[in-house]
Amino acid sequence: MTSEDLSYRLDGRVATVTGAAGGMGVAICRRLARLGATPVLLDLPGERLTAVAEGLRSDGIACHAVACDITNENEVIAATETVSHEYGRCDILVNNAGALHKAVPLESLDIEIWMSSFAVNTTGAFLCTKHFGAMMLAVRSGNIVNIGSTATALPTASAGYGVTKTAVLGFTRQVAVEWGPHGIRANIVSPGFILTPLSQAFYADPVIRKLRETAIALRRIGTPEDVAAMVSFLASDAASYVTGQEIRVDGGFSLTSHILTQPQRDLYAEGKRW
Ligand SMILES: NC(=O)c1ccc[n+]([C@@H]2O[C@H](COP(=O)([O-])OP(=O)(O)OC[C@H]3O[C@@H](n4cnc5c(N)ncnc54)[C@H](O)[C@@H]3O)[C@@H](O)[C@H]2O)c1
Repeated sequence: MTSEDLSYRLDGRVATVTGAAGGMGVAICRRLARLGATPVLLDLPGERLTAVAEGLRSDGIACHAVACDITNENEVIAATETVSHEYGRCDILVNNAGALHKAVPLESLDIEIWMSSFAVNTTGAFLCTKHFGAMMLAVRSGNIVNIGSTATALPTASAGYGVTKTAVLGFTRQVAVEWGPHGIRANIVSPGFILTPLSQAFYADPVIRKLRETAIALRRIGTPEDVAAMVSFLASDAASYVTGQEIRVDGGFSLTSHILTQPQRDLYAEGKRW
């Protein structure tokens, strides 16, 4: 293997992944492990977290599961101490846990929904970065990958969700600039339409599915593995000069609105040339 190939590897690294029991989280843990990292799975306590960790172990992946509500600073501190005690380090942090609230008109959006979206999507990423990042700062090395959404740029019917993800984009840039001189990189991967438990209800409706596929340049709904591949790249030395960046993993969805309003839209939607 050449040194270029090796730069994509993550051998010997400890990678903490939040929301690890969710659709994207599992795929991210598996990908990081295939590249040589040891995943630490953080998620809310429950059978799902235990089952996911057991599933990884039964496939030969050594991992550690830590029950943690990332909105609670004491629980995040305890999780950091567990990882520090177990491994003495955290090389990679993936802030993947997220919550999507139901679509509500802005004028009827309850403050509880607004606050809980911020608590999970933004404050949770801040708390994990603060405490796991302290471990990274101590050794002047580390890598943070946040999971955003195309909603950072394109407002949706769930106002709280998009706004919290936009805040995570700003936070990513803050971390990149503030901690870059201390050996830490931070980037944000913004997925488009990805089929996971969070989103699968949308795809039960064939009309919505077709509408979305038509608006995606690559003409397919994304998979958790599509996102995991970008996360592992950004976490690796192959991306050693990339920081503070948002990378959209959306099959080109966020670029098609113009062409879909042009006279050629029907041809484009049908996948024909004009
Ligand atoms: N699925 C998509 O189409 C899509 C698109 C864009 C962005 N995203 C983002 O990707 C990330 C992963 O989404 P997913 O589709 O895998 O969702 P998911 O619902 O399958 O997984 C989210 C996980 O986060 C965990 N979580 C929620 N609150 C938590 C808390 N307080 N503490 C710890 N863990 C908590 C959940 O238990 C769950 O396991 C999220 O940040 C989401 O916003 C998803």
